[in-house]
Amino acid sequence: MVQTIITIGAQWGDEGKGIAVAELLREANICIRYGGGDNAGHTLYDQQGKKHIVNIAPSGTIFAHVTNIIANGCVINLQTLEQNMEGAKGGLYLSDAAHLIFGYHKLLDGAQESRRKKKIGTTKRGIGPAYADKINRSGIRAGLLKHPQLLEEKLKSAINIKNGELEFWGIDDRIDPDAYYQQMKPLFEKYAPMVIDTRTYLQSAIRQGKLLVFEGAQGSNLDIDHGTYPNVTSSNTTIGGMLTGTGLSHKVIDRTIGISKVYTTRVGSGIMIVDGDDENLINNMANQEQYFEQCRLTDSDREIVMNGETNHQLYDQLASRFIRENAEEFGATTGRPRRVGWLDLVVLRKSIEVNSLDGLILTRLDNLDGIPTIKLCTRYVNQNTREEIKILPNNEQDLDGFKPEYLELDGWNSTSGIRKKEDLPSEAIKFIDCVKSQLGVDIYQVKNGPKQGDYVEFMNPWK
Ligand code: IMP
Repeated sequence: MVQTIITIGAQWGDEGKGIAVAELLREANICIRYGGGDNAGHTLYDQQGKKHIVNIAPSGTIFAHVTNIIANGCVINLQTLEQNMEGAKGGLYLSDAAHLIFGYHKLLDGAQESRRKKKIGTTKRGIGPAYADKINRSGIRAGLLKHPQLLEEKLKSAINIKNGELEFWGIDDRIDPDAYYQQMKPLFEKYAPMVIDTRTYLQSAIRQGKLLVFEGAQGSNLDIDHGTYPNVTSSNTTIGGMLTGTGLSHKVIDRTIGISKVYTTRVGSGIMIVDGDDENLINNMANQEQYFEQCRLTDSDREIVMNGETNHQLYDQLASRFIRENAEEFGATTGRPRRVGWLDLVVLRKSIEVNSLDGLILTRLDNLDGIPTIKLCTRYVNQNTREEIKILPNNEQDLDGFKPEYLELDGWNSTSGIRKKEDLPSEAIKFIDCVKSQLGVDIYQVKNGPKQGDYVEFMNPWK
């Protein structure tokens, strides 16, 4: 029997984890965020079809029957949490060992990013500086919410030190320790009663036979150790992060599921071999409006995609724009365009290996509807030596000279609204079977719409 499901983003984040986790939660009792902070943006729909975006609150907060945990591996911005909890239905506990994000972390994130010659493109939510304080043993844990006097002392002293750091970085902003403490005090008081030792809570829940979904944030390839360093986040987004991020043993893991779109996206800088477009062009777009002004597909561009002639030199670029516009691949908060390319099995193989994934939930199948020729990157090949790479290496320098090699598959007209595998177009089934056999893992579900219930089940993840 499956009692615990661990979900992990199998690409570079934005795989549609929130929606996929919401499907799993319909049968579960507890939802646990084990890493990251409000750099995440999980879009989901409740049973009434209402849209919610949560950043640090676990996705289970939209369900009355789910208890939610923000475990010790997370960094918590209480202001964002307060916004996320508006209208929340499920209960919430915060780990006493999770670290808190404060205003100075955000200022420092912005300052450090602005000084980088090669930008990472961080979310500027203070994630890196908050984890740096944790590792440096100068962070402030949520456990201190239960000891207000000590919290006040530590926070004010940290602010004085951080004001010095802001000066060092040439930033004019300063935080007033007294005013900031007073501003935050109502939140400290509100969330203090929710702070517990979440590890012992979870161990006892497991003993009682409760069903648990561990909600991954970001993606496996943004992991600080196993991702495409330095263009990564500051936490372990992989299976090891789930273990240290909750304090539970590997023995509690029943099933590990990777979540992947049926194509690839990436936000910010870093290697993405299947990127169909010019990385700098897309990364320099401040928002959706600017993208549409400069890159919107014309009728003749659409014709090239619709002709399915993949030897057309513009095909990959125009197909990536087609998917971006069709699937609205723009950041949920910033509106920045995401980089888009075909599904990259080299990236997925790394995630499968690092996390021992049992299988995948694929998302956004309907966003490939109508494209006559669909490509699938099976390996990278060095253009000079013909050497091949089938699993993403740790350092992007090792990819110099490599280009993606694609399988080409026939597309399909429409998958939208389909609920049974046998009703899917045969081409879509062939695409999914090809992914499955190339990767050698199970496919549990394929999402073909954003709302709850918009999926086709291939295998029950709980069985
Ligand atoms: P940070 O986590 O804000 O420090 O950002 C580091 C890198 O991770 C940047 O390239 C971000 O765009 C990326 N990143 C962080 N969180 C997410 C996420 O939830 N989805 C996609 N990319 C993310």
